Amino acid sequence: MTSTGTLLTARPQPGAFDAVMDIAARPPVVFVAGEGSWLTDSEGRRYLDFIQGWAVNTLGHSPRAILDVLARQAETLINCSPAFYNDQMIRLSDLLARHSGLHQVFLANSGAEANEGAIKLARRWGGKFRDGAYEIITMDHGFHGRTLATMSASFKPQWEQLYEPKVDGFVKVPLNDLSAVEAAVTPRTVAVMLEPIQGEAGVFEATDRFMRDLRMLTRDHDILLILDEIQTGIGRTGRLFGFEHAGTTPDIITLAKGLGGGVPLAALVAHRDVCCFEYGDQGGTFCGNPLMAAVGCAVIEAVTQPGFLARVVQAGEYLAHGLSELSRKHGCGEVRGRGLLRALDLRRDVAPAVADLARERGLLVNAPRADSLRFMPALTVTHEEIDQMLDVLDGVLGDVVRG
Ligand SMILES: Cc1ncc(COP(=O)(O)O)c(C=O)c1O
Repeated sequence: MTSTGTLLTARPQPGAFDAVMDIAARPPVVFVAGEGSWLTDSEGRRYLDFIQGWAVNTLGHSPRAILDVLARQAETLINCSPAFYNDQMIRLSDLLARHSGLHQVFLANSGAEANEGAIKLARRWGGKFRDGAYEIITMDHGFHGRTLATMSASFKPQWEQLYEPKVDGFVKVPLNDLSAVEAAVTPRTVAVMLEPIQGEAGVFEATDRFMRDLRMLTRDHDILLILDEIQTGIGRTGRLFGFEHAGTTPDIITLAKGLGGGVPLAALVAHRDVCCFEYGDQGGTFCGNPLMAAVGCAVIEAVTQPGFLARVVQAGEYLAHGLSELSRKHGCGEVRGRGLLRALDLRRDVAPAVADLARERGLLVNAPRADSLRFMPALTVTHEEIDQMLDVLDGVLGDVVRG
Protein backbone atom coordinates (compact mmCIF):
# COMPACT_ATOMS: atom_id res chain seq x y z
CA MET A 1 0.00 0.00 0.00
CA THR A 2 1.14 3.58 -0.60
CA SER A 3 0.71 6.18 2.10
CA THR A 4 -2.46 7.28 0.30
CA GLY A 5 -3.88 3.77 0.64
CA THR A 6 -3.75 2.73 -3.04
CA LEU A 7 -3.13 -0.97 -3.61
CA LEU A 8 -0.01 -1.50 -5.69
CA THR A 9 -0.05 -3.87 -8.63
CA ALA A 10 2.43 -6.72 -8.92
CA ARG A 11 5.65 -6.76 -10.98
CA PRO A 12 4.76 -6.21 -14.67
CA GLN A 13 4.73 -9.41 -16.71
CA PRO A 14 6.85 -9.79 -19.89
CA GLY A 15 5.01 -8.12 -22.76
CA ALA A 16 3.08 -5.89 -20.39
CA PHE A 17 4.34 -2.76 -22.17
CA ASP A 18 3.65 -3.97 -25.73
CA ALA A 19 0.66 -1.72 -26.34
CA VAL A 20 2.60 1.40 -25.34
CA MET A 21 4.16 2.93 -28.45
CA ASP A 22 7.88 2.42 -28.24
CA ILE A 23 9.15 6.00 -28.63
CA ALA A 24 11.74 6.11 -25.84
CA ALA A 25 14.17 3.72 -24.13
CA ARG A 26 12.12 3.49 -20.95
CA PRO A 27 13.49 1.44 -18.06
CA PRO A 28 11.32 -1.52 -16.96
CA VAL A 29 9.87 0.34 -13.99
CA VAL A 30 6.18 1.19 -13.62
CA PHE A 31 5.30 4.08 -11.36
CA VAL A 32 2.00 3.85 -9.58
CA ALA A 33 2.04 6.55 -6.91
CA GLY A 34 3.74 9.76 -5.90
CA GLU A 35 3.88 12.05 -2.90
CA GLY A 36 6.01 15.19 -2.60
CA SER A 37 9.55 14.38 -3.71
CA TRP A 38 8.90 10.63 -3.82
CA LEU A 39 7.62 8.16 -6.40
CA THR A 40 6.62 4.55 -5.74
CA ASP A 41 6.82 1.78 -8.34
CA SER A 42 4.61 -1.27 -8.80
CA GLU A 43 6.85 -3.34 -6.51
CA GLY A 44 6.57 -0.83 -3.71
CA ARG A 45 10.11 0.62 -4.17
CA ARG A 46 10.46 4.32 -3.42
CA TYR A 47 12.48 6.75 -5.55
CA LEU A 48 13.65 10.25 -4.69
CA ASP A 49 12.52 12.23 -7.71
CA PHE A 50 14.84 15.01 -8.95
CA ILE A 51 13.24 14.94 -12.41
CA GLN A 52 9.64 15.70 -11.36
CA GLY A 53 8.12 15.15 -14.79
CA TRP A 54 10.92 17.25 -16.36
CA ALA A 55 10.52 20.32 -14.14
CA VAL A 56 6.74 20.01 -14.16
CA ASN A 57 5.60 19.14 -10.64
CA THR A 58 6.19 22.55 -9.09
CA LEU A 59 4.71 21.56 -5.72
CA GLY A 60 5.82 17.92 -5.87
CA HIS A 61 3.71 14.84 -6.51
CA SER A 62 -0.01 15.07 -5.65
CA PRO A 63 0.21 18.18 -3.44
CA ARG A 64 -2.79 19.04 -1.28
CA ALA A 65 -3.31 22.39 -3.07
CA ILE A 66 -3.80 20.65 -6.43
CA LEU A 67 -5.82 17.72 -5.05
CA ASP A 68 -8.25 20.14 -3.44
CA VAL A 69 -8.68 22.39 -6.45
CA LEU A 70 -9.09 19.44 -8.83
CA ALA A 71 -11.84 17.94 -6.68
CA ARG A 72 -13.61 21.26 -6.18
CA GLN A 73 -13.39 22.33 -9.82
CA ALA A 74 -14.36 18.87 -11.14
CA GLU A 75 -17.54 19.09 -9.12
CA THR A 76 -18.22 22.59 -10.37
CA LEU A 77 -17.28 22.69 -14.08
CA ILE A 78 -14.87 20.48 -16.02
CA ASN A 79 -15.37 21.83 -19.52
CA CYS A 80 -17.66 24.13 -21.44
CA SER A 81 -16.17 25.23 -24.77
CA PRO A 82 -13.32 27.58 -25.64
CA ALA A 83 -15.92 29.54 -27.60
CA PHE A 84 -17.22 30.79 -24.21
CA TYR A 85 -15.51 32.54 -21.33
CA ASN A 86 -15.23 30.57 -18.11
CA ASP A 87 -14.32 31.97 -14.71
CA GLN A 88 -11.06 29.99 -14.30
CA MET A 89 -9.78 30.99 -17.75
CA ILE A 90 -10.37 34.62 -16.80
CA ARG A 91 -8.74 34.23 -13.36
CA LEU A 92 -5.62 32.52 -14.68
CA SER A 93 -5.21 34.94 -17.59
CA ASP A 94 -5.55 37.82 -15.17
CA LEU A 95 -2.98 36.36 -12.76
CA LEU A 96 -0.45 35.73 -15.54
CA ALA A 97 -0.91 39.15 -17.10
CA ARG A 98 -0.63 40.90 -13.75
CA HIS A 99 2.47 39.04 -12.59
CA SER A 100 4.31 39.21 -15.93
CA GLY A 101 3.61 42.87 -16.74
CA LEU A 102 2.19 41.71 -20.08
CA HIS A 103 -1.46 42.00 -21.08
CA GLN A 104 -3.18 39.10 -22.84
CA VAL A 105 -3.06 35.35 -22.45
CA PHE A 106 -3.94 32.41 -24.68
CA LEU A 107 -4.17 29.20 -22.64
CA ALA A 108 -3.02 25.95 -24.25
CA ASN A 109 -2.10 22.38 -23.30
CA SER A 110 1.60 21.88 -23.98
CA GLY A 111 4.79 23.83 -24.36
CA ALA A 112 5.03 23.10 -28.06
CA GLU A 113 1.47 24.36 -28.57
CA ALA A 114 2.23 27.59 -26.69
CA ASN A 115 5.41 28.10 -28.75
CA GLU A 116 3.57 27.30 -31.96
CA GLY A 117 1.11 30.02 -30.91
CA ALA A 118 3.98 32.47 -30.27
CA ILE A 119 5.44 31.75 -33.71
CA LYS A 120 2.03 32.26 -35.32
CA LEU A 121 1.41 35.47 -33.38
CA ALA A 122 4.81 36.86 -34.42
CA ARG A 123 4.16 35.95 -38.05
CA ARG A 124 0.69 37.51 -37.89
CA TRP A 125 2.21 40.69 -36.44
CA GLY A 126 4.90 40.68 -39.14
CA GLY A 127 2.25 40.18 -41.80
CA LYS A 128 0.20 43.08 -40.53
CA PHE A 129 2.81 45.58 -39.38
CA ARG A 130 6.20 44.66 -40.84
CA ASP A 131 5.64 44.12 -44.56
CA GLY A 132 5.19 40.37 -44.22
CA ALA A 133 8.35 39.76 -42.15
CA TYR A 134 8.26 36.19 -40.83
CA GLU A 135 11.76 34.98 -40.01
CA ILE A 136 12.57 34.19 -36.40
CA ILE A 137 16.13 34.10 -35.10
CA THR A 138 16.58 31.25 -32.61
CA MET A 139 19.62 29.92 -30.77
CA ASP A 140 21.93 27.01 -31.51
CA HIS A 141 21.00 24.15 -29.16
CA GLY A 142 17.67 25.77 -28.28
CA PHE A 143 14.69 23.52 -27.64
CA HIS A 144 11.14 24.66 -28.32
CA GLY A 145 9.08 21.50 -28.73
CA ARG A 146 8.13 18.66 -31.04
CA THR A 147 5.58 20.03 -33.49
CA LEU A 148 7.02 20.57 -36.97
CA ALA A 149 7.40 24.34 -36.51
CA THR A 150 8.86 24.10 -33.00
CA MET A 151 11.27 21.35 -34.11
CA SER A 152 12.32 23.66 -36.92
CA ALA A 153 12.87 26.45 -34.38
CA SER A 154 14.95 24.06 -32.23
CA PHE A 155 18.48 22.86 -32.81
CA LYS A 156 19.20 19.23 -32.05
CA PRO A 157 21.87 17.64 -34.23
CA GLN A 158 19.87 14.38 -34.39
CA TRP A 159 16.85 16.28 -35.77
CA GLU A 160 18.75 17.83 -38.67
CA GLN A 161 17.52 15.28 -41.21
CA LEU A 162 14.31 14.27 -39.47
CA TYR A 163 10.82 14.95 -40.90
CA GLU A 164 12.10 16.88 -43.88
CA PRO A 165 11.19 19.34 -45.19
CA LYS A 166 11.28 21.51 -42.07
CA VAL A 167 9.15 24.59 -41.60
CA ASP A 168 10.97 27.46 -43.25
CA GLY A 169 11.83 30.75 -41.57
CA PHE A 170 14.16 29.99 -38.64
CA VAL A 171 17.71 31.29 -38.56
CA LYS A 172 20.05 29.94 -35.85
CA VAL A 173 22.83 31.84 -34.09
CA PRO A 174 25.06 30.98 -31.11
CA LEU A 175 23.70 31.77 -27.66
CA ASN A 176 25.12 34.90 -25.97
CA ASP A 177 26.53 36.24 -29.26
CA LEU A 178 24.90 39.60 -29.84
CA SER A 179 26.82 40.43 -32.99
CA ALA A 180 25.67 37.12 -34.53
CA VAL A 181 22.07 38.10 -33.80
CA GLU A 182 22.62 41.54 -35.28
CA ALA A 183 24.22 40.07 -38.40
CA ALA A 184 21.25 37.72 -38.83
CA VAL A 185 18.64 40.50 -38.77
CA THR A 186 17.21 41.25 -42.22
CA PRO A 187 14.04 42.99 -43.44
CA ARG A 188 12.39 39.53 -43.22
CA THR A 189 13.12 39.20 -39.49
CA VAL A 190 10.12 39.46 -37.21
CA ALA A 191 11.44 38.17 -33.88
CA VAL A 192 14.21 36.67 -31.80
CA MET A 193 13.18 33.65 -29.71
CA LEU A 194 15.17 31.96 -26.96
CA GLU A 195 15.10 30.26 -23.58
CA PRO A 196 16.49 32.22 -20.61
CA ILE A 197 18.26 28.98 -19.71
CA GLN A 198 18.61 26.24 -22.31
CA GLY A 199 17.30 23.28 -20.33
CA GLU A 200 17.25 20.41 -22.81
CA ALA A 201 20.66 21.41 -24.12
CA GLY A 202 22.12 20.79 -20.65
CA VAL A 203 21.33 23.96 -18.62
CA PHE A 204 23.20 26.79 -20.35
CA GLU A 205 22.23 30.32 -19.34
CA ALA A 206 21.64 33.29 -21.56
CA THR A 207 23.59 35.91 -19.62
CA ASP A 208 21.68 38.83 -18.09
CA ARG A 209 23.83 41.15 -20.17
CA PHE A 210 22.89 39.29 -23.38
CA MET A 211 19.21 39.47 -22.43
CA ARG A 212 19.43 43.21 -21.83
CA ASP A 213 21.38 43.81 -25.05
CA LEU A 214 18.92 41.65 -26.95
CA ARG A 215 16.04 43.72 -25.59
CA MET A 216 17.71 46.89 -26.86
CA LEU A 217 18.60 45.35 -30.21
CA THR A 218 15.08 44.04 -30.82
CA ARG A 219 13.63 47.46 -29.91
CA ASP A 220 16.09 49.25 -32.19
CA HIS A 221 15.12 46.99 -35.10
CA ASP A 222 11.42 47.00 -34.24
CA ILE A 223 11.28 43.23 -33.95
CA LEU A 224 9.78 41.08 -31.19
CA LEU A 225 11.54 39.39 -28.30
CA ILE A 226 9.96 36.02 -27.49
CA LEU A 227 11.09 34.16 -24.39
CA ASP A 228 10.39 30.46 -24.11
CA GLU A 229 9.91 30.19 -20.34
CA ILE A 230 8.42 26.73 -20.53
CA GLN A 231 11.15 25.31 -18.33
CA THR A 232 12.33 28.47 -16.53
CA GLY A 233 8.94 29.99 -15.69
CA ILE A 234 6.82 29.68 -12.53
CA GLY A 235 9.55 29.97 -9.95
CA ARG A 236 12.00 27.42 -11.30
CA THR A 237 14.94 29.88 -11.31
CA GLY A 238 14.00 31.54 -8.00
CA ARG A 239 11.97 34.31 -9.65
CA LEU A 240 8.44 33.84 -10.96
CA PHE A 241 9.76 34.33 -14.51
CA GLY A 242 13.32 33.81 -15.73
CA PHE A 243 13.32 37.16 -17.54
CA GLU A 244 13.14 39.00 -14.20
CA HIS A 245 16.82 38.27 -13.51
CA ALA A 246 17.86 40.58 -16.34
CA GLY A 247 15.31 43.24 -15.39
CA THR A 248 13.79 43.42 -18.88
CA THR A 249 10.35 42.51 -20.19
CA PRO A 250 9.96 40.63 -23.47
CA ASP A 251 7.05 41.09 -25.88
CA ILE A 252 5.89 37.48 -25.64
CA ILE A 253 6.54 34.69 -23.16
CA THR A 254 5.45 31.07 -23.27
CA LEU A 255 4.81 28.92 -20.22
CA ALA A 256 3.93 25.25 -19.66
CA LYS A 257 5.54 22.57 -17.45
CA GLY A 258 5.50 24.17 -13.97
CA LEU A 259 2.36 26.21 -14.67
CA GLY A 260 0.14 23.13 -14.42
CA GLY A 261 2.08 21.55 -11.55
CA GLY A 262 1.57 18.16 -13.26
CA VAL A 263 -1.54 18.68 -15.40
CA PRO A 264 -1.33 19.64 -19.08
CA LEU A 265 -1.51 23.41 -19.13
CA ALA A 266 0.39 26.06 -21.08
CA ALA A 267 0.13 29.75 -21.84
CA LEU A 268 1.11 32.26 -24.47
CA VAL A 269 1.39 35.66 -22.78
CA ALA A 270 1.84 38.80 -24.87
CA HIS A 271 2.10 42.55 -24.76
CA ARG A 272 -1.13 44.23 -25.89
CA ASP A 273 0.61 45.82 -28.90
CA VAL A 274 1.39 42.39 -30.32
CA CYS A 275 -2.03 40.80 -29.79
CA CYS A 276 -3.27 40.89 -33.37
CA PHE A 277 -4.92 37.50 -33.92
CA GLU A 278 -8.25 37.81 -35.67
CA TYR A 279 -11.17 35.51 -35.02
CA GLY A 280 -10.38 32.06 -36.30
CA ASP A 281 -6.58 32.56 -36.43
CA GLN A 282 -5.91 30.66 -33.21
CA GLY A 283 -7.74 28.18 -30.98
CA GLY A 284 -7.98 24.61 -29.72
CA THR A 285 -10.62 22.39 -28.14
CA PHE A 286 -9.07 22.24 -24.67
CA CYS A 287 -7.59 25.74 -24.62
CA GLY A 288 -8.76 27.55 -21.50
CA ASN A 289 -10.31 24.42 -20.03
CA PRO A 290 -11.57 25.39 -16.53
CA LEU A 291 -10.29 22.24 -14.77
CA MET A 292 -6.71 22.86 -15.91
CA ALA A 293 -6.94 26.64 -15.52
CA ALA A 294 -8.10 26.25 -11.91
CA VAL A 295 -5.00 24.18 -11.19
CA GLY A 296 -2.83 26.86 -12.82
CA CYS A 297 -4.35 29.46 -10.49
CA ALA A 298 -3.60 27.27 -7.46
CA VAL A 299 0.03 26.82 -8.58
CA ILE A 300 0.55 30.56 -9.15
CA GLU A 301 -1.06 31.35 -5.81
CA ALA A 302 1.26 28.89 -4.04
CA VAL A 303 4.42 30.11 -5.77
CA THR A 304 3.62 33.78 -5.10
CA GLN A 305 3.00 33.22 -1.38
CA PRO A 306 5.39 35.38 0.68
CA GLY A 307 8.66 33.54 1.24
CA PHE A 308 8.07 30.76 -1.33
CA LEU A 309 10.53 32.03 -3.94
CA ALA A 310 13.08 32.97 -1.28
CA ARG A 311 13.00 29.31 -0.21
CA VAL A 312 13.54 28.22 -3.83
CA VAL A 313 16.61 30.48 -3.99
CA GLN A 314 17.94 29.01 -0.72
CA ALA A 315 17.27 25.44 -1.80
CA GLY A 316 18.89 26.16 -5.18
CA GLU A 317 22.02 27.52 -3.51
CA TYR A 318 22.12 24.60 -1.12
CA LEU A 319 21.82 22.18 -4.05
CA ALA A 320 24.49 24.00 -6.07
CA HIS A 321 26.84 24.05 -3.07
CA GLY A 322 26.39 20.31 -2.49
CA LEU A 323 26.92 19.57 -6.18
CA SER A 324 30.10 21.69 -6.21
CA GLU A 325 31.46 19.68 -3.28
CA LEU A 326 30.70 16.42 -5.09
CA SER A 327 32.30 17.85 -8.20
CA ARG A 328 35.52 18.61 -6.31
CA LYS A 329 35.52 15.20 -4.67
CA HIS A 330 34.98 13.27 -7.92
CA GLY A 331 36.95 15.47 -10.33
CA CYS A 332 33.89 16.73 -12.18
CA GLY A 333 33.36 20.15 -13.76
CA GLU A 334 31.16 23.20 -13.27
CA VAL A 335 27.70 23.41 -11.74
CA ARG A 336 25.44 25.38 -14.07
CA GLY A 337 22.01 26.95 -13.74
CA ARG A 338 19.88 28.99 -11.41
CA GLY A 339 17.42 28.28 -8.63
CA LEU A 340 16.24 24.68 -8.84
CA LEU A 341 17.30 24.13 -12.45
CA ARG A 342 20.88 22.93 -12.19
CA ALA A 343 23.34 20.76 -14.05
CA LEU A 344 26.58 19.09 -13.07
CA ASP A 345 29.27 18.70 -15.73
CA LEU A 346 30.76 15.25 -15.19
CA ARG A 347 33.65 15.94 -17.60
CA ARG A 348 33.22 12.45 -19.08
CA ASP A 349 30.47 10.82 -21.14
CA VAL A 350 29.06 8.81 -18.25
CA ALA A 351 25.84 10.70 -17.47
CA PRO A 352 23.44 8.01 -18.77
CA ALA A 353 25.33 5.35 -16.77
CA VAL A 354 25.17 7.54 -13.66
CA ALA A 355 21.44 8.14 -14.13
CA ASP A 356 20.82 4.38 -14.61
CA LEU A 357 22.76 3.36 -11.53
CA ALA A 358 21.17 6.16 -9.50
CA ARG A 359 17.73 4.84 -10.48
CA GLU A 360 18.69 1.34 -9.39
CA ARG A 361 19.59 2.91 -6.04
CA GLY A 362 16.32 4.79 -5.77
CA LEU A 363 17.22 8.22 -7.15
CA LEU A 364 15.85 9.79 -10.35
CA VAL A 365 18.11 12.28 -12.12
CA ASN A 366 18.17 13.23 -15.79
CA ALA A 367 21.06 13.08 -18.27
CA PRO A 368 20.33 15.71 -20.96
CA ARG A 369 23.82 15.27 -22.40
CA ALA A 370 26.30 12.42 -22.30
CA ASP A 371 28.50 14.46 -19.96
CA SER A 372 25.95 16.26 -17.76
CA LEU A 373 23.29 15.55 -15.18
CA ARG A 374 20.27 17.82 -14.73
CA PHE A 375 18.45 18.40 -11.44
CA MET A 376 14.85 19.68 -11.44
CA PRO A 377 13.35 18.78 -8.05
CA ALA A 378 9.99 20.00 -6.81
CA LEU A 379 10.22 23.64 -5.74
CA THR A 380 9.16 22.40 -2.32
CA VAL A 381 12.17 20.07 -1.98
CA THR A 382 13.67 20.11 1.52
CA HIS A 383 17.34 20.44 2.49
CA GLU A 384 17.07 16.95 3.95
CA GLU A 385 15.93 15.56 0.58
CA ILE A 386 18.77 17.40 -1.16
CA ASP A 387 21.18 15.79 1.34
CA GLN A 388 19.66 12.37 0.61
CA MET A 389 20.05 12.95 -3.13
CA LEU A 390 23.68 14.07 -2.73
CA ASP A 391 24.42 11.04 -0.58
CA VAL A 392 23.15 8.58 -3.22
CA LEU A 393 24.85 10.52 -6.02
CA ASP A 394 28.12 10.51 -4.11
CA GLY A 395 28.09 6.71 -4.01
CA VAL A 396 27.05 6.40 -7.65
CA LEU A 397 29.73 8.84 -8.86
CA GLY A 398 32.30 6.95 -6.82
CA ASP A 399 31.32 3.72 -8.59
CA VAL A 400 30.87 5.07 -12.14
CA VAL A 401 33.32 7.96 -12.46
CA ARG A 402 36.21 6.27 -10.72
CA GLY A 403 34.87 3.01 -12.18
C1 LIG B 1 12.19 25.26 -23.22
C2 LIG B 1 11.16 24.28 -23.70
N1 LIG B 1 10.30 24.66 -24.65
C3 LIG B 1 9.35 23.84 -25.11
C4 LIG B 1 9.24 22.56 -24.63
C5 LIG B 1 8.16 21.66 -25.15
O1 LIG B 1 7.18 21.50 -24.19
P1 LIG B 1 6.11 20.29 -24.31
O2 LIG B 1 6.90 19.04 -24.19
O3 LIG B 1 5.16 20.53 -23.19
O4 LIG B 1 5.48 20.44 -25.65
C6 LIG B 1 10.11 22.12 -23.65
C7 LIG B 1 10.04 20.72 -23.13
O5 LIG B 1 10.96 20.18 -22.59
C8 LIG B 1 11.10 22.99 -23.16
O6 LIG B 1 11.98 22.62 -22.23
